[in-house]
Amino acid sequence: MNYNIAVIKGDGIGPDIVDQALLVLDQVGEKFGHTFNYTEVLAGGAAIDAVGHSLPDETVTVCKASDAVILGAVGGPKWDSLTSGDRPEKALLGLRAALGLFANIRPAIMYNELRDACPLKDRIIGEDGIDIVVVRELTGGIYFGDRGHGFGDMGEYMYDTMKYSEKEVERIAIRAFEIARKRNKKVTSVDKANVLDNSKLWRKVVEKVALDYPDIELNHLYVDNAAMQLVINPKQFDVIVTGNMFGDILSDEASMITGSIGMLPSASLGESGIGMYEPIHGSAPDIAGQDKANPIATVLSIAMMLRYSFNLEAEADAVENAVAKVLEAGNRTGDIMSDGCTLVGTKKMGALLLEHL
Ligand code: NAD
Ligand code: IPM
Ligand code: MN
Repeated sequence: MNYNIAVIKGDGIGPDIVDQALLVLDQVGEKFGHTFNYTEVLAGGAAIDAVGHSLPDETVTVCKASDAVILGAVGGPKWDSLTSGDRPEKALLGLRAALGLFANIRPAIMYNELRDACPLKDRIIGEDGIDIVVVRELTGGIYFGDRGHGFGDMGEYMYDTMKYSEKEVERIAIRAFEIARKRNKKVTSVDKANVLDNSKLWRKVVEKVALDYPDIELNHLYVDNAAMQLVINPKQFDVIVTGNMFGDILSDEASMITGSIGMLPSASLGESGIGMYEPIHGSAPDIAGQDKANPIATVLSIAMMLRYSFNLEAEADAVENAVAKVLEAGNRTGDIMSDGCTLVGTKKMGALLLEHL
């Protein structure tokens, strides 16, 4: 089969990790007889530098015409205070909205080989490690609410509003319950319903959706408690469903308890069928261009693309197995390094993955 993929390398470590991930994908193509055609397009800081704004129309057009999108990461200090008000991160939000990607699936799985990289005690991790999926709403909430500014008694003010509608909550809740049905049949909905009205609606709608899933256990946690429970008792979680900002924060937390943010992939999905696949981490300006970044989160995002967008199970398994084997052999980038292991750079990690595929 032939697949057309839009590639946005982005900023910082983006190009380093995407280059390695594409080498892996090319090898999957050779091994299984598929052709992956890449169209590279610009977004984020790189687009600001090249054409003056973070999300060129051409990028949206190419993404919409593709079967899937692979994105590295965008952003960096260079573009943090532009007078135009544009930001690299706006491109990411614009793409998510333009492609209707309301469901962000962020699996946080602890590889047994990385137990040493997990900051939690052995008794908390247990024998079989941690396996959680964060289902984050991605095109609503405070990221996309009304915003404004003015002047009042306390000087200048700015505001961002948090809004959720029934339909928005319903469709993300359905995704979460469907995913839980294929896993351990438990959904934890995270909100702030003790304070926020939009969270009260969130909770009501999630409970209504739950009526269609009597086989799934549902519980609710306030977001502050959820943050704490992730550290003290992560094994209680199977699928976490939550809003845009809470999901952003909790998924970074979940990544660290499973070892490193450099390990966690994500899939952003909507109704249209086009998915966008990206690591959950950012452009890591502190290690950009130093051959230090862990490419595994991006490689695992490619496995998610093979599975969710192209239905290529065996191919996705092959990629995930290669990751497990490379870790088993003791190879580590700096973020997951521990005693007795071999420290490798981004490119070497990519080469090892190819060897094990
Ligand atoms: P970050 O995720 O870029 O980095 C946080 C820490 O994790 C840093 O110490 C970094 O070195 C480390 N890290 C991240 N990815 C790594 C990897 N693959 N291998 C090894 N170490 C890794 O978060 P930040 O520093 O808050 O943000 C930097 C920039 O990235 C900002 O401009 C931010 O807006 C942007 N950002 C973009 C995305 C995205 O494009 N999806 C996501 C998050 C942040
Ligand atoms: C992420 C990032 C983005 C978000 C930023 C860069 C807009 O942190 O993908 O997790 O907050 O969604
Ligand atoms: Mn984030």
